[in-house]
Amino acid sequence: MMSGHTDMVLVDKKGIRIDGRTADQHRQFKVEAGVLNNADGSAYVEIGKNKVLAAVYGPRECHPRHLQNPNKAIIQCKYNMQAFSVSDRKRPGPDRRSIEISKITAEALENVVLTELYPRASIDVYIEILQANAGTRCAGLTAASVALADAGIPMRDIVPACAAGKADGKVLLDLNKEEDNYGEADVPIAIVPSTDEIVLLQMDGNMTRKEFDKAISMAVGACHELYDIQKDALKRRYSTKKEEVEEDE
Ligand code: CDP
Repeated sequence: MMSGHTDMVLVDKKGIRIDGRTADQHRQFKVEAGVLNNADGSAYVEIGKNKVLAAVYGPRECHPRHLQNPNKAIIQCKYNMQAFSVSDRKRPGPDRRSIEISKITAEALENVVLTELYPRASIDVYIEILQANAGTRCAGLTAASVALADAGIPMRDIVPACAAGKADGKVLLDLNKEEDNYGEADVPIAIVPSTDEIVLLQMDGNMTRKEFDKAISMAVGACHELYDIQKDALKRRYSTKKEEVEEDE
């Protein structure tokens, strides 16, 4: 959401951003897999102050039935911002923005989930934004792909997502709320790390081709770092699951 200009200094003379980061630093990443008992798969992600939960059900019978595809499963995604997730209370329920983010998230995930294994089924992904500070679509997609893996759904890879953009004339990695609101451009991307395919790319605002290339390369780099954290979360989850099974035996 780029809404215009401000007198606020977003990047100071030494190149330091308002949250203390340098241009090429991302916020802190945190990923946990399997945080909910009653979903088939789940994950919790923090990207800086963004806090996001994802839950997955399926593959299960697709409702409404007219959405069924005889050749593959469909992915139905619901991105939802909680009323308390933003500074001005968000009016509950879907709006144009959340419908758009749900759609692009499902489309990104369709590139990695082996949907052809489950004709007529639905895989349902719920993304709940608990706290927002710009970058929630990236945090949501990052969480959703870990939740799908946690549900044991066959996938080619998991999908990390991160944005880069431009504020105060500088190309910056992983924009925070002020940089997103008052900056010049924001480019969220998601990749398939094993092939470096881009499965989500959006752009809000303007930058030159050279700046764009720089933004993409910074965001791809951050996605690879995030990927390692996603995999660690799944490994931790798998080892606790194994311990639980062994205790039961
Ligand atoms: O969250 P993301 O960057 O993917 O999407 P955005 O539409 O560019 O929104 C940027 C940020 O604006 C969000 O992360 C929220 O912090 C804020 N926002 C808000 O305060 N109220 C809304 N209704 C929507 C967004």
